[in-house]
Amino acid sequence: MNQTKLTKNRISKKAASFTESVIREMSRVAAKYDAVNLGQGFPDFPAPFDIKEKAMEAIAGDHNQYAITWGVKSFRDAIAEKTKWFLNLDVDPETEITVTCGSTEGMIAGMMATVDAGEEVIVFEPFYENYAPDAILSDAKPVHVPLYQTETGWHFEKDELRNAFNENTKAIIICNPNNPTGKVFTREELEFIAELCREFDVICFTDEIYEHIIYKGIRDAGEMTRDNPKHLSMAQIDGMNDRTVVINSLSKTYSVTGWRVGYVIAPPDITSAIRKVHDFLTVGAANPLQHAGAYALSLPEKYYRELQKEYQSKRDFIVPVLQKNGFKCEMPQGAYYVMTDISDFGFANDVEFTKFLIQEIGVAVVPGSSFYHDKSLGAQKVRFCFCKKDETLQAAAERLQNLTKKI
Ligand SMILES: Cc1ncc(COP(=O)(O)O)c(C=O)c1O
Repeated sequence: MNQTKLTKNRISKKAASFTESVIREMSRVAAKYDAVNLGQGFPDFPAPFDIKEKAMEAIAGDHNQYAITWGVKSFRDAIAEKTKWFLNLDVDPETEITVTCGSTEGMIAGMMATVDAGEEVIVFEPFYENYAPDAILSDAKPVHVPLYQTETGWHFEKDELRNAFNENTKAIIICNPNNPTGKVFTREELEFIAELCREFDVICFTDEIYEHIIYKGIRDAGEMTRDNPKHLSMAQIDGMNDRTVVINSLSKTYSVTGWRVGYVIAPPDITSAIRKVHDFLTVGAANPLQHAGAYALSLPEKYYRELQKEYQSKRDFIVPVLQKNGFKCEMPQGAYYVMTDISDFGFANDVEFTKFLIQEIGVAVVPGSSFYHDKSLGAQKVRFCFCKKDETLQAAAERLQNLTKKI
């Protein structure tokens, strides 16, 4: 084959500056070694049949061409109605909602629509790994503020957060309930962040895709009570409605991560910018699946209560198993992950440990370093997810019993 002489870099600096997703890579490695996959956060149980049936009906009913680029009307209406009953917020489906290809596209479209090159975006760390490439792709300068693990959960230092804000700060990203820590931000914390956003005229991107996965027994989360935990959105905090971009998705709440349907709720000026970016990135999300989404979002409250109960029981099963087998961790307050400390196992780092766990024990996890910009900070941590069938969690528990024997 003729080899032309290359005189230019064929890979952009942006693309070269981040690696492929470690989380997604772990799923491929898990499959290779036939490991129980507690790495990537997708359910291994079926999506609800009635939701799938609506998707099949929509395909048979010929909703198969491009939808309106910012979303099928019935779906946007359903999002507005659900936001009203669940968060008591009035959202205009004509001017404040954009349907995207998953919340993944929602976040990057949102950042590209608002952030100019060099503007700073504050990110709590550890963070969901997509936020780092999101910042690079949108030319933002990420500023990391640590979340510290304590016996009462994960907390940030108010002074450190305040010091991260300045006149060059464009936005802050929060993920609430949080992946990977399981933290649920308290009302007091949200109000503190909100005050800073108002003082420095900053936009808040709030990734709330785990809004329905929140556990009983959490300490102080504003509206929430111990027996009836309820999500508190940043958009509900006084004075934040007009500077909050809520990122959400069908993926986790309806167990359809492969459908790639998400949505963004934002004030009209930001929405109109997001719609333009979204249009040229993807044109639109899958039309028939948005029709099914309209049905999903109209499900009664009972659906969400059941979901919460299911995940509560999975959490209550797996966390003690991990603790018994040498992982140091707390009960997560929300989402379906548990970040654990592996320092007692004596491995050089999280990647070595993860390889050992997959190949020798048969359980896949995500190395903690993929959630930190400074990899050394996550070098003694791994993240488990528990959005899996009970028998999958049981199989993982059995395999993990071999851990101390093999070390
Ligand atoms: C915090 C967070 N945001 C976004 C996503 C991706 O969601 P989607 O499937 O809607 O793109 C995930 C998936 O694990 C996640 O944990």
